[in-house]
Amino acid sequence: METFDIAVIGAGAAGMMSAAVAAQNGRRVVLLDHAERLAEKIRISGGGRCNFTNINAGPANFLSANSHFCRSALARYTPQDFLALLKRHRVAWHEKHKGQLFCDDSSESIIQLLKSECDSGGVTWRRPVTVASTSHDGARFTLETSAGTITCAAVVVATGGLSIPKIGATDFAYRLAKQFGHKLVDTRPALVPLTFSSDDWAPFAALSGLSVEVALSAGKGRARGEFAEDLLLTHRGLSGPGVLQISTYWNPSEAISIDLLPGVDAVAEFLAAKAGSRKQIGNFLGERVPARLAQTWLDVQRISADARLADLPDKTLRQIGESLSNWTLTPNGTEGYRKAEVTRGGVDTRELSSTTMMSARVAGLYFIGEAVDVTGWLGGYNFQWAWASGVAAGKAAAEFVAA
Ligand code: FDA
Repeated sequence: METFDIAVIGAGAAGMMSAAVAAQNGRRVVLLDHAERLAEKIRISGGGRCNFTNINAGPANFLSANSHFCRSALARYTPQDFLALLKRHRVAWHEKHKGQLFCDDSSESIIQLLKSECDSGGVTWRRPVTVASTSHDGARFTLETSAGTITCAAVVVATGGLSIPKIGATDFAYRLAKQFGHKLVDTRPALVPLTFSSDDWAPFAALSGLSVEVALSAGKGRARGEFAEDLLLTHRGLSGPGVLQISTYWNPSEAISIDLLPGVDAVAEFLAAKAGSRKQIGNFLGERVPARLAQTWLDVQRISADARLADLPDKTLRQIGESLSNWTLTPNGTEGYRKAEVTRGGVDTRELSSTTMMSARVAGLYFIGEAVDVTGWLGGYNFQWAWASGVAAGKAAAEFVAA
């Protein structure tokens, strides 16, 4: 039997950060993971360059049933704090689109940075190892693992969500949460391409590979997302950054809305163009969106692309303008956890402390990172949540053990 102050389960983004912080605060920390390769999700992130944060990250960029939960941790560990850490480790980075920060070199620099932070605190590594059971006797936890029994005063659960099972995602955090009486918010693939029935999609499948800048929206009320980003047509449906963003807000059987002419009053533009115009509507629309999309879109709306603007009644032009600004489509599903960048939902945060991430049910039990019901937008937000929640729990667990 081995004795530690804190066991961190899951050596991904949040777990490594948390273990490093707890260990650097003087605690004896063991970090366990079942995967053969370390932090595979960081490695493949951002196309291999890890979009490690977003300079604009704030609570408005996250979806949760408990929308204020992420505030405290995000305020106490900001993108600037992570940049200071990169500076100390001489990791070079650059800004891309909309505040997204990427490594100049590769994601490996982030993995090495976290590993060296853990090593400088003296974290004990146990991997690959499986955790068969976790119990609590009211004072200490006992973990039965494939590498023997571990006892500790605090456990930090950082095993992530369900996305990409082939690189080791499991429902470990959810099972453990339920075991200790926690509720879960329904989980669903998020930041994921949307699919359509083959009948609905047949006309568009031939446009696979085509990308258009649009505005999109999905969801309702506080859980409504609106984004101005690119959309990519695929053989099975829609992808691209804009679609991944709204997929987090989309609920099965609901429609999504696409504005094909963002920033344009399409009705006014079509009515104004009518006067004295000999232009065909297909050509007119083809000057505003890719010509092949214009043709297919008009076919699906049963409007002849050859019709001249001047010959179309105002009512029809108004309807066309409205449909272009609010093209509604109902996906039949998503590409699932196989392709989802993250998992929406997870451990219900209403039973966790927003300052420490500690369970309100079991003293010394913490849940962090993607395992909890905090889902960030595409663009570095999910890693920022992993860092911020990891630091909050690492510091808090270190204090808890000392008390
Ligand atoms: P994470 O998944 O990183 O780590 C969980 C760890 O727990 C893993 O090491 C796993 O092996 C381990 N584990 C799981 N089950 C276990 C068990 N039963 N026993 C022991 N160990 C177990 N985000 C972002 O901000 N910018 C980006 O560029 C990208 N890019 C990106 C690309 C792709 C393809 C994906 C799939 C995801 C992204 N993300 C992203 C999302 C980001 O990777 C994700 O939100 C964080 O890695 C979550 O960090 P966690 O530490 O919570 O989980």
